[in-house]
Amino acid sequence: MELTDQGDWTRVTSEWEVESRGDLEALRPERLFSLDGKVALITGAGGGVGGWLALGLAAAGARVVLSDITGERCAGIAERLGAGGKEHHVVAADLRDPAAPPFIVEGVLSRFGRLDVVVNAAAVNERRPIAHADPEVWSSIADVNLRAAYFLAREAMLTMRETGGGSIVNITSVNAEIGVEDVSVYGAHKAALAQATKTMCVEWAKYRIRVNCISPGFLMTSLSRPLWQDEARAKWILARCPQRRPGWPEELVGACLLLASDAGSFISGASILVDGGLLAGSPWNP
Ligand SMILES: NC(=O)c1ccc[n+]([C@@H]2O[C@H](COP(=O)([O-])OP(=O)(O)OC[C@H]3O[C@@H](n4cnc5c(N)ncnc54)[C@H](O)[C@@H]3O)[C@@H](O)[C@H]2O)c1
Repeated sequence: MELTDQGDWTRVTSEWEVESRGDLEALRPERLFSLDGKVALITGAGGGVGGWLALGLAAAGARVVLSDITGERCAGIAERLGAGGKEHHVVAADLRDPAAPPFIVEGVLSRFGRLDVVVNAAAVNERRPIAHADPEVWSSIADVNLRAAYFLAREAMLTMRETGGGSIVNITSVNAEIGVEDVSVYGAHKAALAQATKTMCVEWAKYRIRVNCISPGFLMTSLSRPLWQDEARAKWILARCPQRRPGWPEELVGACLLLASDAGSFISGASILVDGGLLAGSPWNP
């Protein structure tokens, strides 16, 4: 019995029937986490997190579609995938454009004919106090971080439900949980995406579509570089993170493979923290 084949659970009455679900071969990590035959779409694929997640999904066997604001931003990752003999495709689109989500999914379908995994990793930030906020900043962050992710998930659902299901992974942030000075707009939209993820989970379970979040702590990428370059802020982060170091984008690959593959077949509506312990608490004397 395949792990994803839920069978008729009402018939699982005897010990033998329970044991018969334990196919040892299906539990081997290379089978459990395999994405062979799957097609994965990653937005923000030219960035730190999106690039590594694209490599990780390809390493697990997926054919990957890299999407970013320009094709050039994906060139480095595309080259590494090509050098590794991994099938891939690039769809450039500006997520500020409401027409981008259907355009991107159409690009995936016209190249590979199916879509099994979506990772919403593209995002922008502009740090300023609420006193200096304005509607333009609000919209420029919301359009990419919330609206595009929401509608790309919806567009993916429309095709996934026709092909037996899929997995959607929304990259949120610890800023969805804690208030960080100057990060009000980004934090509010990440929290909204985490909330929408739960409703997607509820509405789309009937299509065998799972929807989850990965909530990273402070990583070392171009998005967070201004924080690490600011001595006081870097010190603040290191004092609060029990591991006393930045996270690296490749450290999200494990969580992403869990959520994208059959290893996570009963995980939906969840948010996995990958934050070095930051939200768990902090020592008195770092
Ligand atoms: N870096 C961190 O510390 C950190 C912490 C928590 C969460 N995150 C989240 O991780 C994800 C990836 O961030 P990252 O750190 O890799 O940042 P990054 O800046 O390296 O990558 C973001 C990518 O999104 C793309 N993008 C931005 N605007 C776009 C648009 N209008 N259309 C299409 N693409 C666009 C950029 O070109 C870039 O390649 C984001 O969702 C971010 O919020 C990052």
